[in-house]
Amino acid sequence: MSLLNDRADSAAHAAIAGTGIGDAAGAVHDLDRLILLGIAADLHRRTRLRSGLAHGPGAVADDLGAAPRHRWIAGHWLSALHDAGLVGRDATGRYHDLHGPRRAELAAARTRMEAARLALGYPTELAELMLRSLRLLPSLLRDEIGVQALLYPDGEPATAEAVYRGNVISRYLNAAAAEVVRDLAERVTRPLRILELGAGIGATTADLLPALTGRPVEFYLFTDLSPFFLDTARRRFDAGFLRYALLDIAHDLPQQPGGLDLVVAATMAHNAPHVDRLLGQVAALLAPGGRVLLVETVREHPQSLTSMPFALSTDDGPPRRLDCRAGTTRTYLRREEWLSALAGSGLRIEVDLPRPGDPLTALSQRLLVAIR
Ligand SMILES: C[S@@+](CC[C@H](N)C(=O)[O-])C[C@H]1O[C@@H](n2cnc3c(N)ncnc32)[C@H](O)[C@@H]1O
Repeated sequence: MSLLNDRADSAAHAAIAGTGIGDAAGAVHDLDRLILLGIAADLHRRTRLRSGLAHGPGAVADDLGAAPRHRWIAGHWLSALHDAGLVGRDATGRYHDLHGPRRAELAAARTRMEAARLALGYPTELAELMLRSLRLLPSLLRDEIGVQALLYPDGEPATAEAVYRGNVISRYLNAAAAEVVRDLAERVTRPLRILELGAGIGATTADLLPALTGRPVEFYLFTDLSPFFLDTARRRFDAGFLRYALLDIAHDLPQQPGGLDLVVAATMAHNAPHVDRLLGQVAALLAPGGRVLLVETVREHPQSLTSMPFALSTDDGPPRRLDCRAGTTRTYLRREEWLSALAGSGLRIEVDLPRPGDPLTALSQRLLVAIR
């Protein structure tokens, strides 16, 4: 890997120095387990799977009173519960013998989740989010409340900040990303042109902007699908070079070939129906030597099963997936799939962190940077 990979890794480890993460893999397992047991308890309480007989996901969605666009989530959850050994599946794809967790098992899982949260340096908002999402599952499934209400209770971004910024892996990844931006700013002689996709609450932007202080920047175009985030960012940031625009990566990107020095997509590129197509269009927007910087989760992690799927449902049901995820309800690509998609777009991988063997890899979030 490149010198930049070493430089970004060192800077990022310096940024989290003193944060002991101990048994990260065990802590991740405990966060996942609480959500899986919570879903199993809900299905056991409210659906015919309680009988022990085999039933298809459609019957389970009926019992849950799921809104049409969220019906697919029943099958998505059952598949995750099956992977975790909490429900059986027969050759016809019907599920049976669902584990019904007892109160004491749920209480113990909750205690372990709290210890795991502390071990991984997540603020209390993460635990509140997980518990709130489990409590609200019936209303979420019926589409009576949206996922925004989970992530932005009272319209405040503290919970989303906890998920996207205030934890050890986000701090590591954002510090590494900032070092990449610093390197870019040192290298490019003309004013920089930067585009951020799905910039959301600006949890990544906030850590990248200081790396641009005192550097010539032509523009930093902050984009998102939702005007809510653009308005919030306008109030939050004051750098004179910031511009704002709505941009939906489910559609083709505006074509202005060859002019950008950096495209940032932090925990958002998996929202593209076809990531190879997205990366091909991003590559075409880059100047020679320009970079794309991705932060991505590279595993289907159960801890987000009670929030993420509700954000992904379209009016027609499950999200459209036309790439290597086609025919599945997978949300994320694996590391190897991202590496291959980046290389397939004619980009060379420069940064791939955390390094193999780093305990942070257990958190399954990565920084990938590729250069044109
Ligand atoms: C998980 S958040 C990440 C936010 C931000 N990048 C950060 O790190 O704080 C995902 C963001 O992607 C945006 N998003 C989802 N689908 C999108 C799409 N099709 N086009 C553009 N943005 C999208 C959401 O509105 C949300 O702000």
